[in-house]
Amino acid sequence: MIQKFENISSIQGELKLGGDKSISHRAIMFAAMADGVSIIRNCSDSEDVRSTINCFEKLGCTIEYNKNFIKVFGKGFKGFSKPKTELYAGNSGTTTRLLSGILCAQDFDSVITGDASLSQRPMKRIVDPLRLMGADITANEKGTLPLQIKPSSLKPINYTMQVASAQVKSALILCALHIDQESVIIEPVPTRNHTEKFLALKTEDSTNGTKIFVSKKNYPQPFEVTIPSDISSAAFFMVLALLAKNSKIVIKNVLLNETRTGVIEILKRMGGRIEIENRKMEKGEDVGNINIYSSELRNVEISKEIIPNIIDEIPILSVAGAFADGKFKITGAKELRVKESDRIKSLCINFRQCGLDVVEYDDGFELSGNISDGNKMFESFGDHRIAMAFGVMSMLMKNGGSVKDFECAGVSNPNFLTQITNLSS
Ligand code: S3P
Repeated sequence: MIQKFENISSIQGELKLGGDKSISHRAIMFAAMADGVSIIRNCSDSEDVRSTINCFEKLGCTIEYNKNFIKVFGKGFKGFSKPKTELYAGNSGTTTRLLSGILCAQDFDSVITGDASLSQRPMKRIVDPLRLMGADITANEKGTLPLQIKPSSLKPINYTMQVASAQVKSALILCALHIDQESVIIEPVPTRNHTEKFLALKTEDSTNGTKIFVSKKNYPQPFEVTIPSDISSAAFFMVLALLAKNSKIVIKNVLLNETRTGVIEILKRMGGRIEIENRKMEKGEDVGNINIYSSELRNVEISKEIIPNIIDEIPILSVAGAFADGKFKITGAKELRVKESDRIKSLCINFRQCGLDVVEYDDGFELSGNISDGNKMFESFGDHRIAMAFGVMSMLMKNGGSVKDFECAGVSNPNFLTQITNLSS
């Protein structure tokens, strides 16, 4: 579907978004593992989280949808049953990588597959450390899906992370939850810490990074949770409100975990007026309302250390950078090449369409020059965050623009178009 976006003059109003995708995946998994019934409110209705739910249903778990909550009937320690078919993770890297950590500890064979994009993404990063734990997991010869997992006897590890990846870290933690003895995972570069927070794991700062301690005694128990709204989905509306004239929006109950708020920090440094109110805690996670006002933006230096914190927000941050004064430059972000699309390439191709001068690096890119008028046709490359970033770009361009295959936005936010309509009417 080609989605046309008209230029918008202003956006106003209050926005409620679905639950954070990263936390929703984890909540479903922990609830499925626990022995008893868990209640999850404001779970993400994204296609990615649907993929996680589908996999756990295939593993024998009953998941009931109610108006305001999801009820998960957990199977308890090693209580899953052998799936009758392969487990299909769709487009979701988080489903695949976290689920593999759990499956390595089960007493049956399983196979994880995914769509064309997921089937090209690197899996060696989980296979290698899981094998160090004694897991019997193999990827194909290219290090990609399908993943074949067989029962094995597991042993604890003392492991320093080789890639800054919350998915890899979480896969190891999930596997380690099935082992009596303690594993220690050392993270030199911080990444999102929702798994540690949800399970209330002991962590310790050391000269080599953060040490995370995990064993069977941390195995999840049934719980009730309200998932904070997704900050990565909020980022698209933040940039739109900052750049559209005479705009003010409030986004309610947004996740404000310190490993995820880099986008707010950078937009504020760029001159964005963003104010946070009503801070509270929800199952160890910081939450608050965010007020965003139209602002004049200028580009700022983005340091390499902050990249893991903003990894999912770089597409929309670069749209902000394209409209801001000065040159937008990002480096140290090679991980973008192995996301749902090669995001460096996807962004460079679309920004060239806008008439900008684009320099592509192996680990980033640079934008300068002026955005040309004229109704542009952007590619989504089947990547939800590229689709929404260029939806926002189009709405900010004088003559609007269009995005091909826009339906992929549903991978993280199926309600994007309705939410935009509600704010701009
Ligand atoms: C995620 C971690 C990040 C992020 C992804 C979600 C998670 O990936 O890009 O969208 O929920 O753990 P990596 O951990 O591979 O960097």
